[in-house]
Amino acid sequence: MIKIAVISDIHGNKLALDNVLEDINKFNPDKIFCLGDLILAGYNPNYTVKKMIELKEQYKDNFEIIQGNTDKMVAYCTPGLIEKTKNAFPCMGYSLEEDVKITNREYIDFVKNLPEKKSVEINGLKLELVHGSPRNQSENIFPDLEVEKVEEMVKSCNADLILCGHTHIPCGYTLNSGKTVINAGSVGRSMTKDKMPVYLQLTVDNMGQFFSEHRIIKYDIEQVKRHILTRGFPCVEDLANMF
Ligand SMILES: [Fe+2]
Repeated sequence: MIKIAVISDIHGNKLALDNVLEDINKFNPDKIFCLGDLILAGYNPNYTVKKMIELKEQYKDNFEIIQGNTDKMVAYCTPGLIEKTKNAFPCMGYSLEEDVKITNREYIDFVKNLPEKKSVEINGLKLELVHGSPRNQSENIFPDLEVEKVEEMVKSCNADLILCGHTHIPCGYTLNSGKTVINAGSVGRSMTKDKMPVYLQLTVDNMGQFFSEHRIIKYDIEQVKRHILTRGFPCVEDLANMF
């Protein structure tokens, strides 16, 4: 029996990450998978990346991590991208501008060098780790899609189990093709009704059969809002109010 903790979309939220890692420690997994979006729109991007590097050192080959779309935005940021983001979504644009300034260069290089997806096999079960969907890092696998649509999104991938994040809303699909898709939800910017951090506990038995459970972790969200407000850039109130 192999136990795996799947985390995604931490977005620089130290308090959420610490609370989730505390629960993960109790679960005592054999492996940890992180599905990207370590940074942007939080309050401590450096801590998040540092923690992922520590987990890699601790779990070695049993830690897998891929890049999310916001990691890519910070890693390949240009003045044009900042302006474009400010026009579309002001608080995100300012946050992008600031995160590029405050994130250590070595941590930006870390997220820049992450792969966009990864294939893993556990006891004969083929898993694909992606951020959005297997065909697009920024594609949304939401809870209310028609299964045919999800089938189309994962058509190019021959894994049995596809693990994704990106939407910040946990969900799962069993498809007619026999594939299963599970969205792990978000640690740091959860878009569930109560905005509480979510991660996935996955167990794979010796025959490659799996069982999964989303975990919801309660924490002090007001404290996160206060941390976000201390960043002080324009529109930061809008960013804090999203929590
Ligand atoms: Fe995200």
